[in-house]
Amino acid sequence: MDDLRHRWLAEVAEAADEAALERVRLAALGKKGEIALRMRELGAMDPAERMRVAPALNALRDELASALAARRAALRDAALEERLRGEWLDLSLPARPRRAGTIHPVSQVTEEIVLIFAAMGFAVAEGPQVEDDWHNFDALNIAPEHPARQEHDTFYMARAPGDDRPPHVLRTHTSPVQIRAMQERGAPLRVIAPGRVFRADYDQTHSPMFHQVEGLAIDRDTTMAQLKWTLEEFLRAFFGLDRLDLRFRASHFPFTEPSAEVDVRCSWEGGTLRLGEGDDWLEVLGSGMVHPRVLAAAGLDPEAWQGFAFGMGIDRLAMLKYGIPDLRAFFDSDLRWLRHYGFGALEVPSLAAGL
Ligand code: PHE
Repeated sequence: MDDLRHRWLAEVAEAADEAALERVRLAALGKKGEIALRMRELGAMDPAERMRVAPALNALRDELASALAARRAALRDAALEERLRGEWLDLSLPARPRRAGTIHPVSQVTEEIVLIFAAMGFAVAEGPQVEDDWHNFDALNIAPEHPARQEHDTFYMARAPGDDRPPHVLRTHTSPVQIRAMQERGAPLRVIAPGRVFRADYDQTHSPMFHQVEGLAIDRDTTMAQLKWTLEEFLRAFFGLDRLDLRFRASHFPFTEPSAEVDVRCSWEGGTLRLGEGDDWLEVLGSGMVHPRVLAAAGLDPEAWQGFAFGMGIDRLAMLKYGIPDLRAFFDSDLRWLRHYGFGALEVPSLAAGL
């Protein structure tokens, strides 16, 4: 029995891999293995001998089985160790640039605009895209019967049946953020509010969802001259032109008085648009001095405070600056378009470079 035990335990210990170990298992414990043969011989023994040999054989079988299991586990661990040493990934390698995503022109231009106005002391303000009609219209001096409500091609949200409060709207401009900023922050105040706006309109230069940026400056003695300077400074920095003639054209908005639309000098010679030269004018934004009723609606005393406001289309500014022809393509999610007009994730705009 001792000889049997030593021989098989040595075989188990010497098995070099799992296949060899399996051969040892079959030869020792398999149906035709040595231990099984010995078990069969028990029948031919006299009872006294059988009483002595049978328990020893059973104990040997159990001991061998656990030796086999232990050796198998050890071999598996060693094989895994070996594989882990051979297979590895260097996670510090750079991603393949071919697969990198791009920054959408709207995001890029929004960053550029925020950067320029931040340098002039404007903070970023936000408001909801689903707006109540008081903030979108009434507080901005647009009465219910005012034609501007129709002009804006407003999307209305549904109310529950039986609820006859005025419906919420998808904000038609970023101007309601003027009201919210004055209510939340009081005066003096200098904010810009970039964001999505919605109007039921769709052609080459209109999309039902587009982007505006609102500007608002309130102080005790804010003037139209400051409005002009601010817009000139912004447009020159944004388009990267030292000289950019602007034309302030008298206009009308219910929430500003006086109001002006601003055009930039441009030429269309040879079918290509060039800013800063030529004899044509291109409208880029609406602006004016905040109407006293708007200040009052937002809780400011119109006798103590005055301010200017402006609003412009971010998508339109992106089209002009980067020569992008069709507004609708902005929102098609076409990868070829995004790769062509998109910006590198690491090309962060700055006032010194990259504007
Ligand atoms: N809200 C106006 C529009 O959408 C733009 C504007 C903003 C005009 C602020 C004047 C002052 O057309």
